[in-house]
Amino acid sequence: MKKLVLVSVTLLTLLFVAACGDDGDGTQTVGIAMPTQSSERWVDDGNNMVEMFEELGYETDLQYAEDVVENQLSQIENMITRGVDILVIASIDGEALTDVLDQAENLNIPVISYDRLIMNHDHVSYYATFDNFGVGVIQGEYIEEQLGLADGEGPFNIELFAGSPDDNNAYFFWDGAMSVLDPYIENGQLVVRSGQTEFSQAATLRWSGSEAQERMDNILSAHYSDETLDVVYSPFDGISLGVISSLQAVGYGTDARPLPIVTGQDAERSSVRSIIAGEQTQTVFKDTRALAEQAVNMADSVLNDEEPEVNDTETYDNNVKVVPSYLLEPVSVDIDNYQEVLIDSGYYDEDEL
Ligand code: GAL
Repeated sequence: MKKLVLVSVTLLTLLFVAACGDDGDGTQTVGIAMPTQSSERWVDDGNNMVEMFEELGYETDLQYAEDVVENQLSQIENMITRGVDILVIASIDGEALTDVLDQAENLNIPVISYDRLIMNHDHVSYYATFDNFGVGVIQGEYIEEQLGLADGEGPFNIELFAGSPDDNNAYFFWDGAMSVLDPYIENGQLVVRSGQTEFSQAATLRWSGSEAQERMDNILSAHYSDETLDVVYSPFDGISLGVISSLQAVGYGTDARPLPIVTGQDAERSSVRSIIAGEQTQTVFKDTRALAEQAVNMADSVLNDEEPEVNDTETYDNNVKVVPSYLLEPVSVDIDNYQEVLIDSGYYDEDEL
């Protein structure tokens, strides 16, 4: 009897899986696993992909895990059980997906790594992202130009923030920025009063704005009671806004004591508003429409047994293989060009900002 039940359950599961796979009418389903809705960009990424996949006739299953690794793992497991035909994943912890990727591999479900590289597994078919080292370089060069560092200006006080240590991108942004800033730290044109110049000291778990705010509070009270902070290197808008709140709480943001230069990334609406208000100084625009389009084209090619277009087969080693990638170009945005880059391009409506 037990055996019979087991057999029928298995059969039912198989039938269910097969039915979901092509819905009986040839429609294929794409599982899209995104990290969190707490940052606007991922909401835009998810919506853009759903729209584009549906235009091509796919069904989608879009899930957000609110930055909880276990949620993301069970969401992906459910997608696999449902019988999706392909997975597009922006991981929370790039090193935590080994088991679910084993399952996907066993069932021949291809996996596209979205924006963030999935580490330590050979079953990552392709990677759609931006030139992440380039993002860091753009941020570093912005600081270099604004301060006139190449002309020998300084010394200036700077503090450094890094992204989440479980996100491979965080190291690329940091390395790119430090490739520009390090020489000026070495020669004393930039001074890090906290002494926190290592990635591990500057890292911000899950890119949390409140964690960054707390770290900035501590640094300001310990090292800046008699000093002025001139620049903050921040890799991400959410961190930038946390840092700015901390600075405002101790009196920065007046004519007598202007806010430091603060960089960022993602051109999220709240940060663009902050730039317009003269608070955050810069951000890096990464067009989520273009990224979604790349990922959708990759998935569509894979599902049609075609070779997706890639433009980098060297940079993204996930410790098991170099994942063939398509890298898009990031663009620096500040008060001078936000109108042209973000509004004239149709990315945002003026009234959203
Ligand atoms: C990174 C991504 C950045 C930023 C950050 C925090 O992986 O490349 O653009 O969004 O996560 O969400």
